[in-house]
Amino acid sequence: MTDLFDPLELRDTTVPNRVMVSPMCQYSCDARDGRATEWHHVHLGSRAVGGAGLVVAEATAVEKRGRITPEDLGIWNDDQADALARTTRFVKEQGAVPGIQLAHAGRKASTSRPWDGSRPLYPDDGGWEVVGPSGDPWPYEDDDGERVDAPPTREMDQGDIEQVIDSFRTAAERARDAGFEVAEVHAAHGYLLHEFLSPVTNHRAGDYGGDFEGRTRLTREVTEAVREVWPDGKPVFVRISGTDWFDDRESWTVEQSARLADRLAGIGADLIDVSSGGIAPGSWPEQAGPNYQLPLAETVRETSESDIAVGTVGGITTPEQAQAVVANDRADLAIVGRQFLRDPYFGLRAADALDATDEVTGPPQYRRGFGF
Ligand code: FNR
Repeated sequence: MTDLFDPLELRDTTVPNRVMVSPMCQYSCDARDGRATEWHHVHLGSRAVGGAGLVVAEATAVEKRGRITPEDLGIWNDDQADALARTTRFVKEQGAVPGIQLAHAGRKASTSRPWDGSRPLYPDDGGWEVVGPSGDPWPYEDDDGERVDAPPTREMDQGDIEQVIDSFRTAAERARDAGFEVAEVHAAHGYLLHEFLSPVTNHRAGDYGGDFEGRTRLTREVTEAVREVWPDGKPVFVRISGTDWFDDRESWTVEQSARLADRLAGIGADLIDVSSGGIAPGSWPEQAGPNYQLPLAETVRETSESDIAVGTVGGITTPEQAQAVVANDRADLAIVGRQFLRDPYFGLRAADALDATDEVTGPPQYRRGFGF
């Protein structure tokens, strides 16, 4: 039996336990320049202090137009990478592994922050040109459910596609040089790569549209580009939406997710992080209770032919739940989002609750607060 506080070995990298901090946008780059601030350092650093084995930085834009909001983190230039280096050092000093999610927001780019209404931003209002696999924009609505005007989405041409692949590659090089040890490709939640995967948003003809092969091509080529520059001993993850949650129209399904997992395993991905939804309004589960995405992760794990590792995220809030996911062999990694916002020390608390304090070094400064 595997326990939550058993290490996870991926290539030559040892993640000291099976608790990962899910990437969570902080919308906190003050100068709108994509550079990490004190906020990011403390946010990520605290969760490493708090006992997580793997701390993954938020969706970090590989090119400027790939930000969701002007305040998103970016890694399209060296200054941005330099600003992250002290955080990766600190996370490692705490015994945790630093990871980064590499992202492009596609047609969901150029909005205000959630606490400013997540409204579409026009170029003369601090926004920028939005691109996607096809020309239909995200259907923005106001609080009363009425459609609101949004800037157009431009269908990407071959040059744009090559530029995006190249941006992921150079972003991965910068992330590697900044000290990150896990690169996660963001192919979920209705952002650019998921928009290519799903027939809900991909209406293209040609190489990057149409059938499974065409729709998955960009995600595969991006993962290949990241793998090419990521050190051989270090793992690459891909976060996918396991399903679009639509049964009334052609969409992305868990069966396609398992097929994609096999293809990604074949090009050197090491773990599939299975989330769900986000491709269009209504693309959510009816209920998002405890472990709500675990059946998707299990299906990917059981029905894919490769033995690629699988992580589950969604509705994990207690140590016992995280332990059960791993101990019952339902997934290899328990990925925790909002509970880490409520409790940065969830990892230490879990070690305490599960009697695993021998497995955790923990910061000596906090020893008297916990049982290690
Ligand atoms: C998120 N989520 C998210 N997902 C992702 O892949 N990249 C990201 O940058 C973000 N950003 C983000 C910000 C905030 C504030 C929240 C709450 C969530 C989704 C997140 O990683 C996770 O998948 C979901 O929150 C579900 O897990 P929990 O919260 O139920 O553990």
